[in-house]
Order: sequence, then structure tokens, then C-alpha cells
Amino acid sequence: MKLLAALLLAAAPAARAADSCVSCHAALDERNAAVIGSFARDIHREKGLSCAACHGGDPTKEDMAEAMDPAKGFAGKPEPAQMSQFCGKCHSDPKYMRRYNPSLPTDQAAKYATSNHGLRLKAGDTDVATCASCHPAHSIRPPKDPTSSVYVKNVPDTCARCHADSKKMAAHKLPATVVAEYKDSVHGKALLGRGDTAAPACNTCHGNHGAAPPGVAGIGQVCGMCHVNNMEFFKNSPMSKPWAKAGFHACATCHTAHAVQKPTSALLAGDAALCARCHASSSKPRAVAAALKAELDTGESSYRAAEAAIAQAEEKGMDMADARDALDGARTSMYQARTAVHTFSPEAVAKVAGEGKAASGKALQAAQDAVKDFRDRRVGLGLSTFVIAFLAGALYLKVRDLESGE
Ligand code: HEC
Ligand code: HEC
Ligand code: HEC
Ligand code: HEC
Ligand code: HEC
Ligand code: HEC
Ligand code: HEC
Ligand code: HEC
Ligand code: HEC
Repeated sequence: MKLLAALLLAAAPAARAADSCVSCHAALDERNAAVIGSFARDIHREKGLSCAACHGGDPTKEDMAEAMDPAKGFAGKPEPAQMSQFCGKCHSDPKYMRRYNPSLPTDQAAKYATSNHGLRLKAGDTDVATCASCHPAHSIRPPKDPTSSVYVKNVPDTCARCHADSKKMAAHKLPATVVAEYKDSVHGKALLGRGDTAAPACNTCHGNHGAAPPGVAGIGQVCGMCHVNNMEFFKNSPMSKPWAKAGFHACATCHTAHAVQKPTSALLAGDAALCARCHASSSKPRAVAAALKAELDTGESSYRAAEAAIAQAEEKGMDMADARDALDGARTSMYQARTAVHTFSPEAVAKVAGEGKAASGKALQAAQDAVKDFRDRRVGLGLSTFVIAFLAGALYLKVRDLESGE
């Protein structure tokens, strides 16, 4: 462990002057040695800030009491309630931070104070996240570093330390399932499985430091950051106002917030349908739902029919490039039709789905024409083969006749 400290000191000529904090702590015990070890990669260490920058004290003194003298500003280990101020003494000071990185925001402590975490901490609840829960002391890395606790793909596990802890969550009357649900959702699979950073992590929806709880204005709009058209359509739909009044979430009421799965038209009809949760079976909205489903399903089946016909034609070696173009157009229209469902207007969906059906129809026709063309040519080929064979036979007979007549 002495070696570790020696390495660290050797690697930091500026700090070598005499950092008694590092040299003494490295030799104390395994736990302290681990602190010193992980600190070697801490962003603060990289920027030339050592132990005393955060903890205070006098790193030029070898003597323990002198080095860790409260009169020299030594503050020891911060309690959770002090954490915001502890980190904020630098991170909330724009003048100080500008010297290192002018583009770094200095609002973390202010936002944290308004978050559910911050508010509960102020009320004396030390189960909540403080700065050091999400940015573990002595191994803090910038968010862009893939090894950082707050790198986008690591955020769910950082939150999971508490939000997947059933004992802790039960004590706060919160579900401990949100992380597992999220990981199994379209978003979790896209981000964590395929590395698609267009998909949201916990902080994309809840904020980095605001940790907006449900009910906070804004969380209702959060899906619309990315699904812009769905939100526009929903806002102009007949359900928007009554839902807002009733406190229903614009999107999560139907799709859930964390367990979002790939939707299908099956959500629209039948007794298990979403709509059946609020609308009686003979009501107008259920008729609307059935009409929406019919539009989507017929659109989908004409797409499928065209796709199969094209595949068949391609198998026979026909060039189907134009039909494929028409089919792509149909695919786009059907995507748009699924988005237009959020108008909850059969007319609006019929318009877009109609374009899709027309394009599928065109593609199907092209494929069928090509197959017919192929058959005609085959019949033609058979016919001409027959004629040629006949002529050849006749010619042979004629030649034989001529030869035998000699
Ligand atoms: C000569 C050895 C020595 C030096 C020099 C030294 N420390 Fe310590 N430090 C210790 C020991 C031993 C403890 C544990 C004391 C205890 O358990 O009360 C400790 C405890 C701490 C703690 C934990 C306090 C708590 O409240 O739990 C912090 C933080 C700390 N030191 C930071 C520093 C900093 C910063 C410096 C340099 C300015 C420094 N130390 C210099 C030996 C040293
Ligand atoms: C960026 C600020 C920062 C720097 C720099 C820093 N620490 Fe800490 N340290 C903290 C925080 C925050 C805690 C409390 C962690 C917690 O409660 O989870 C802490 C806790 C400690 C503790 C108590 C550990 C424990 O688990 O009880 C010791 C000892 C300590 N630090 C020593 C050091 C030493 C030695 C250095 C330099 C090598 C150092 N710290 C550098 C922020 C810092
Ligand atoms: C002594 C001042 C100081 C204290 C105290 C301090 N920091 Fe820092 N912190 C800095 C500086 C300077 C940087 C480097 C900024 C840069 O150049 O990007 C930094 C960088 C960071 C970064 C990386 C930012 C980025 O994107 O580059 C994080 C995260 C961070 N600190 C969190 C904390 C936390 C959490 C605490 C409290 C436990 C804390 N800091 C305490 C000064 C401080
Ligand atoms: C609930 C978890 C959580 C808590 C609590 C938290 N942070 Fe963060 N912090 C994050 C996340 C997530 C990011 C990453 C943002 C990103 O991807 O750009 C971040 C980013 C940062 C950054 C980089 C600059 C920025 O604002 O994006 C700094 C500095 C920082 N935090 C400091 C703090 C300080 C200081 C506190 C306490 C007042 C704190 N954090 C509390 C999760 C947290
Ligand atoms: C150190 C533990 C801890 C960590 C880490 C943590 N949280 Fe929390 N969080 C809590 C506790 C405890 C509560 C409940 C506070 C209360 O009683 O209202 C809470 C509350 C919340 C709430 C409000 C829920 C509500 O309805 O009251 C949201 C949202 C939240 N956390 C999001 C996050 C996100 C996102 C992350 C990760 C970036 C995160 N938390 C990391 C402990 C944590
Ligand atoms: C796509 C956006 C989104 C993502 C990603 C997301 N949340 Fe949420 N979260 C929400 C919304 C919206 C609500 C409110 C749901 C409601 O009002 O019905 C919520 C509610 C919560 C609650 C309160 C639950 C309750 O029942 O009271 C917690 C805690 C929470 N989220 C934590 C997390 C954590 C941890 C993650 C990451 C694993 C995460 N969230 C990811 C949007 C999201
Ligand atoms: C940061 C952007 C972002 C936010 C915020 C977001 N999403 Fe998504 N969403 C995506 C991306 C990207 C995909 C595509 C994932 C994939 O490729 O499987 C997606 C996929 C979906 C799908 C599946 C679409 C399909 O055709 O299979 C649904 C449903 C969905 N999101 C609903 C929501 C809801 C509800 C919310 C709010 C609680 C939300 N999204 C918030 C980016 C976002
Ligand atoms: C009343 C229930 C309901 C509400 C509210 C709702 N959706 Fe949907 N959503 C559906 C149904 C049903 C489908 C399935 C259409 C299909 O795929 O056949 C769907 C499909 C989707 C899709 C996949 C199709 C596409 O557009 O790519 C996304 C993404 C989506 N919804 C996002 C949202 C968002 C964001 C909100 C909030 C603005 C929202 N939904 C509100 C019922 C709802
Ligand atoms: C969470 C409850 C809830 C769900 C789920 C729900 N609705 Fe509604 N819907 C309402 C409320 C409340 C109203 C406004 C009052 C009313 O007209 O009944 C409404 C109104 C409507 C209207 C306007 C009715 C009119 O007379 O103009 C239509 C259309 C509609 N919903 C269709 C749907 C469809 C389709 C679904 C399923 C995809 C659905 N709703 C799911 C609660 C819901």
C-alpha cells in the first residue's frame, strides 16, 4: 500500500510537495488504501484537486492532529444533510467552476433542493439519494465516461441501488419493480441491449438533479419530448382535457411509464382492450376503437399480401424494385396510421391508412403483373419451343426424303 501511495505521488508531481493526507491514509488500513486507490481515477484528482480541497485540513503537516485540524478547515466526513453544501461550495460557485470548465452547469445543488430526494432529506429522511449516492465519493467520473456511475447506460443500476431495494422502497410506499420493468421495456432493451442512446434512461424522464416525482408538472409531457406527433395528436383529442382534469397521465395510463411494450391493435378491441377499462361495450368510444382497429388491421393485411406477392415474384427472378418502393411507402403510411390512432378519430386514421392501402395495392398489382408476365412468357417459350421442334422434325423428314430420293 505504501507502493500505491508512492505511485500516486510520483504520478502527481504538483501534489507531491507534501500531501500528508494521501501518504498517511494509504498506509492506514485496507479501506483507506482502497479510497486512495480509486481516487487515482477521480475527476477531481485529475484536475489537481486533492483530499484537502474537499475535506479541508492542512496536507503539509505530517502530524495527524495538525493535518486534520478543524481550525484549518478540516470538516471530516460529511453527513448526508451536509452533502449538498459540501459539493456545492465549488459546484454552485460559477466563478470558481469557470476556472476549470466554463460550460459545466452550476445548478445541481439548487435543482437537487427542489427534488423529491432533496425535499425529503431536508425533512430528515436519510434514505434518499444525496450527491454522493449517485456520484460515489473518490471515484467520481464525468457523465460521458462509460465507467461513470452516471453514464447513460449505467444510470438504471445507479438508481437501482435504492429503487430495486424492496425493503427500502416499502418503507417509502414506493414500488421496487420500476428498474426491472424498465429493463424489460422497449426503452430499456433499446438503450441497454442495443446501445441506442435515442432511448430514455431514468434521468431522461426524471431529470438529473430534479428527480421529478409523478404529479409534478412536466412529467406528463415527458414522452412528448421524443414522441412529438403522438403528443400533438393526443392533446387535440377529445380525451386530453377530461384526462388532465382527472389526473391521468397522457401516455402512461395506456402504455405504463416503465413497462412500455411494443403496442399492437389488439389494445383497441375485445374485453381485455385498454379502452374497455373506461368505456362500456356499447358506448361510442368502443365503436371508435373497433373502427380504428379495422383500419389498422386491413391496412396491415394488404401490406402483408403485397409483401408476399413481391417475394414470390422475386423468387422467379423478376425485378421488383418499383414494387418495393411502393411497399416502402405503404410501410411509412402504416407507421403514421399507428401514430394517428392518438387522435382517436377513425376518419384521421382512415386517411393515412388509406394511403398505405393504396400503396400496398399498387405494389401487389405490380407483383401480380410481373408473375402473369412471367407465365405468359413461359407459355410463349413453350409454344415457340414446340414450333421450332416441329419445324426441325419436318425439315429432318424432308431432308431424309430428298436423300432417299437420290
Ligand atoms: C498521520 C496520519 C494522517 C494524516 C496526515 C491525515 N489523516 Fe485523516 N485520518 C487518519 C486516521 C487514523 C483517521 C481515522 C481517525 C478516526 O477514526 O477518528 C483519519 C480520518 C479521516 C477522515 C474521516 C473522518 C470521519 O469523520 O470519519 C477524513 C475525511 C480524513 N481523515 C481526511 C484527511 C485529510 C483531508 C487529511 C489531510 C489534510 C488527512 N486526513 C490527514 C490519519 C491521518
Ligand atoms: C470530491 C470531494 C472529495 C475528495 C477530493 C476526497 N473526498 Fe473523502 N469523502 C468525500 C465524501 C463526499 C465522503 C463521504 C462519502 C459518503 O458518505 O458516502 C468522503 C469520505 C471520506 C472518508 C470516510 C470514509 C468512510 O467510508 O467512512 C475518508 C477517510 C476520506 N473521505 C478520505 C479522503 C482522502 C484521504 C482523500 C484524498 C485521497 C479524499 N477523501 C478525497 C469527498 C471527497
Ligand atoms: C474543491 C471544489 C470541488 C468540490 C468540493 C467538489 N467538486 Fe466536483 N469538480 C470540481 C472541479 C474543478 C471539477 C472539474 C470540472 C471540469 O473540468 O470539467 C469537478 C468535476 C466534477 C464532476 C464531473 C463533471 C464533468 O462533467 O466534467 C462531477 C460529477 C463532480 N465534480 C461531482 C462532485 C460531487 C458529487 C462532489 C461532492 C461529493 C464534488 N464534485 C465536490 C470541483 C469540486
Ligand atoms: C439521483 C442521482 C443524482 C444525485 C442525487 C445527484 N446527481 Fe449529479 N448527476 C446525475 C446524473 C444522472 C448526471 C448525468 C447527466 C448527464 O448525463 O449529462 C449528473 C451530472 C452531474 C454533474 C455534471 C454536470 C451536469 O450538471 O450534468 C455534476 C457536476 C453533478 N452531477 C454534481 C452533483 C452534485 C453537486 C449533486 C448534489 C447537490 C448531485 N450531482 C446529485 C445524478 C445525480
Ligand atoms: C440512496 C438511495 C436512492 C438512490 C440512489 C436514488 N433514489 Fe430516488 N428515492 C429514494 C427514496 C428513499 C425515495 C422516497 C422518498 C420519499 O419518501 O418520498 C426516492 C424517491 C424518488 C422519486 C419520487 C417518487 C415518489 O413518487 O415520491 C423519484 C422520481 C426518484 N426517486 C427517482 C430516482 C432516480 C431517477 C434515481 C437515479 C438517477 C434515483 N431516484 C436514485 C432513494 C434513492
Ligand atoms: C420514459 C420515461 C421514464 C423513464 C425512462 C423512467 N421513468 Fe420513472 N416515471 C415516469 C413517469 C411518467 C412516472 C409517473 C407515472 C404515473 O404518474 O403514473 C414515473 C414514476 C416513477 C416513480 C414513482 C413510482 C410510483 O409508483 O409512485 C419512481 C420511483 C420512478 N419513476 C423511478 C424511475 C427509475 C429508477 C427509472 C429508471 C430505472 C425510471 N423511473 C425510468 C417516467 C419514466
Ligand atoms: C428520449 C426519448 C424518448 C422518450 C422520453 C420516450 N421514448 Fe418511447 N421510444 C423512444 C425510442 C428511441 C423508441 C424506439 C425503441 C426501439 O427501437 O425499440 C421508443 C419506443 C416506444 C414505444 C414502442 C413503439 C413501437 O412502435 O414499438 C412506445 C409505445 C413508447 N416508446 C412509448 C413511450 C412513452 C409512453 C413514453 C413516456 C412515458 C416514452 N415513450 C418516452 C424514445 C423515447
Ligand atoms: C387511450 C390509450 C392510449 C393513449 C392515451 C396513448 N396511446 Fe399510444 N398507442 C395506443 C394504441 C392502442 C396503440 C397501438 C396502435 C397499433 O400499433 O396498432 C398505440 C401506439 C403507440 C406507439 C407506436 C406507434 C407509433 O406511433 O410509433 C407509440 C410510440 C405510442 N403509442 C406512444 C404514445 C405516447 C407518447 C402517448 C402520450 C402522448 C400515447 N401513446 C398515448 C393507445 C394509447
Ligand atoms: C383511463 C380511462 C380511459 C381510457 C383507458 C380510455 N378512455 Fe376514452 N375517454 C375517457 C374519458 C374520461 C373521456 C371523456 C368523457 C367521455 O366522453 O366519456 C373519454 C372520451 C373518449 C372519446 C370521445 C367520446 C365522445 O363522445 O366524443 C373517444 C372517441 C374515446 N374516449 C376513445 C377511446 C379509445 C378508442 C380508447 C382506447 C384506445 C379509450 N378511449 C380509452 C377515458 C378513457
